[in-house]
Amino acid sequence: MPNEGTILDAPAVETEGLAKSFGDNRAVDGVDLIVPAGTVYGLLGPNGAGKTTVVRMLATLLRPDGGVARVFGHDVLREPDAVRSRVSLTGQYASVDEDLTGTENLVLLARLLGYSKAQARERAAQLLEAFGLSEAADRQVKKYSGGMRRRIDISASILNTPDLLFLDEPTTGLDPRSRNQVWDIVRLVVANGTTVLLTTQYLDEADQLAGRIAVIDRGKVIAEGTPGQLKASIGAGTVHVRLRDADQRPAAERVLAEELGTTVQREADPVALTARADASGSDRGAAAQASRALARLAEAGIIVDDFSLGQPSLDEVFLALTDRPATEEVTA
Ligand SMILES: Nc1ncnc2c1ncn2[C@@H]1O[C@H](COP(=O)(O)OP(=O)(O)OP(=O)(O)O)[C@@H](O)[C@H]1O
Ligand SMILES: [Mg+2]
Repeated sequence: MPNEGTILDAPAVETEGLAKSFGDNRAVDGVDLIVPAGTVYGLLGPNGAGKTTVVRMLATLLRPDGGVARVFGHDVLREPDAVRSRVSLTGQYASVDEDLTGTENLVLLARLLGYSKAQARERAAQLLEAFGLSEAADRQVKKYSGGMRRRIDISASILNTPDLLFLDEPTTGLDPRSRNQVWDIVRLVVANGTTVLLTTQYLDEADQLAGRIAVIDRGKVIAEGTPGQLKASIGAGTVHVRLRDADQRPAAERVLAEELGTTVQREADPVALTARADASGSDRGAAAQASRALARLAEAGIIVDDFSLGQPSLDEVFLALTDRPATEEVTA
């Protein structure tokens, strides 16, 4: 059931020329976004790009100093209460109490939201179960692993199912298994009807979860589209090769350099090579180039044990879009 005051068919988020400066630093510099309701939307960008600042303005925690932002049709400046009633935020630096157990945290927060004692216990148990935390329910949060910690943070922010959930870098610093668990939770949240605005520094995360992605750099959106469109516009991936025999590495290197037209890197592992498949100057896609390179290696009698075409990294995305790597931090 939509809340009262829902403006029918309004996008979950709509911004026009949204801006925020800190002194001379234009942290958010004219951002236009449309986040359709019921989807996961990814804001992808490196450190200091302005992601958290955008989220804080949308969550009414920070006043924009230019442009317009609406959440489900409600202006963040003129109707902050209507916005707040629809959103929830899981911050980059989260808010549960370290000294309390998982259950105690969720029950406390549910009580603050007006649940009865019994309802609060029930909701807490339900969320802990859904997020795979039942066994850790009675353990203090400070004894949780990083992945468990993110999961309890997210569960705390969806006690009352929000219409729009902001997840600010939910998996930064997590190991692959914990990242996967968080991703499953995000999918679960969306399946329950919540729109998710996710910030991330990882292209693969945005690709896994988001229907659309905006790439943000120095406070501006520099690319927007579906993950497929974005990757197609970048037209590149990384080829990883593992050979049976280290003696064949120089020959393999020559074949890959010739076929892919890029420099080939020798990994520390003496049988491994890595090369960028840059499809931008070619009428064939990266996958076609990679498979042809693989065929050429076989023709040359080189035994390949493992061959993969990985996604472009955020660095490669930024190199393609801005001619500089994402890791070059900008100090304004
Ligand atoms: N409260 C603040 N006061 C002054 N400057 C700020 C403040 N918050 C953010 N900034 C600056 O605004 C810019 C954008 O910061 P923001 O935190 O939005 O980036 P981000 O994309 O979330 O980065 P990260 O990936 O590191 O979290 C940065 O240059 C940052 O130093
Ligand atoms: Mg941030």
